[in-house]
Amino acid sequence: MDELPPRLFVTGTDTGVGKTLLSAILMAGSAATYWKPVQSGEPGDTDWVRQATGLPGGRFAPETYRFSHPLSPHAAAALAGVEIELEAFRPPPAPRLIAEGAGGVLVPLNGQDLMVDLMAHLALPVLLVARSGLGTINHTLLSLEALRRRQLEVLGVVVNGALNPANEEAISRYGQVRVLAAVEPLPRLDLAGLRAAHERYFGGRE
Ligand SMILES: Nc1ncnc2c1ncn2[C@@H]1O[C@H](COP(=O)(O)OP(=O)(O)OP(=O)(O)O)[C@@H](O)[C@H]1O
Ligand SMILES: [Mg+2]
Repeated sequence: MDELPPRLFVTGTDTGVGKTLLSAILMAGSAATYWKPVQSGEPGDTDWVRQATGLPGGRFAPETYRFSHPLSPHAAAALAGVEIELEAFRPPPAPRLIAEGAGGVLVPLNGQDLMVDLMAHLALPVLLVARSGLGTINHTLLSLEALRRRQLEVLGVVVNGALNPANEEAISRYGQVRVLAAVEPLPRLDLAGLRAAHERYFGGRE
């Protein structure tokens, strides 16, 4: 596999598909900074990656928006009496950056902008995390369409979960996209386990 670019945005086909898990793998195997621009719900993904990897606080940028309700950002912000503004997002100037979205690509941020608009605003290339199992072909192809409509650079898809080569093949063929890795359920979610996963799935390359 070619090397990943030093700064990228991790999005997913849905909530709970493994964006944070993939981000933690990439963090464990590189010198990147992790940034979750919008966090809804406690504890946050930043806390999870920090705890799992044990990496120092300097590797983690503060969220631009952090809400306590585990809802779509537009709804969590409304409950907090806040209006999310695209202009408020300033990516940390780290030479290597892993930015993680919230939920999927068409999650609303405010009255008009969606997560995909934030990706376009940040102008970062995108990695799409997808489930490996039933339902993933449809969700992945829909997500790819939405990303490409905004002219976003799609680096590839990472499927997560029990191996399903037929789904990988279908995603690659119908989505005209590379499946960069098929991450299986990891036995250990600590630094050593995440580093081993980085070595296995990304050849240890940063
Ligand atoms: N390959 C894996 N091996 C072991 N556990 C996993 C794996 N993938 C995901 N998980 C676990 O499944 C849960 C959901 O994954 P994760 O938090 O990475 O999803 P997400 O896409 O980041 O969700 P959100 O939309 O809330 O940010 C977590 O508890 C995570 O640790
Ligand atoms: Mg997450």
